[in-house]
Amino acid sequence: MCPGSFDPVTNGHLDVIERAAGLFDEVVVAVAGNPAKKSLFTVPERVGLIEQSLSGLPNVRVATVPGGLLVDFCRQVEAVAVVKGLRGGTDFAYELPMALMNRHLSGVETVFLPGEPRFEHVSSSLIKEVAAHGGDVSGLVPEHVLARLLARVGRVGQTENGQPDAAG
Ligand code: PNS
Repeated sequence: MCPGSFDPVTNGHLDVIERAAGLFDEVVVAVAGNPAKKSLFTVPERVGLIEQSLSGLPNVRVATVPGGLLVDFCRQVEAVAVVKGLRGGTDFAYELPMALMNRHLSGVETVFLPGEPRFEHVSSSLIKEVAAHGGDVSGLVPEHVLARLLARVGRVGQTENGQPDAAG
């Protein structure tokens, strides 16, 4: 089980999902809505963006966490482990209490995978902020995510450097 908000999915997420797909027979990417977080994309939109990013990974499917606890969803789909990517110590500090709580609640273990270092600075929140302010995030998210992101933050018709595209 690879859970997260994925608002939107980044190349850093996809790197970890691909690594998980190489380790486990089956991977469920679990998109969780978080009412406490203001999201840019709806949960169904996030699911669609991930599904579009996964061609070529036959053992990966995308699902929505149906409310409630992640560990209940793990039990429901008989997941043997939660998989989380780590970019560094800050991620570890954020993830460790959740991993311990999930194990406390249900016994499910969390497997931490070091992410690819070239995506160390990539997070959904930074991607959204940089894109909204006209910065270039190409290469950090898949092309179809980039197009939807620019449209959502009101940068339709611009190239990545903020200049008008050929169509104006
Ligand atoms: O990408 P995020 O926002 O860091 O992912 C956090 C997520 C979705 C994995 C976490 O909030 C979660 O597991 N939510 C489901 C509800 C739950 O089980 N909360 C208790 C976690 S110990």
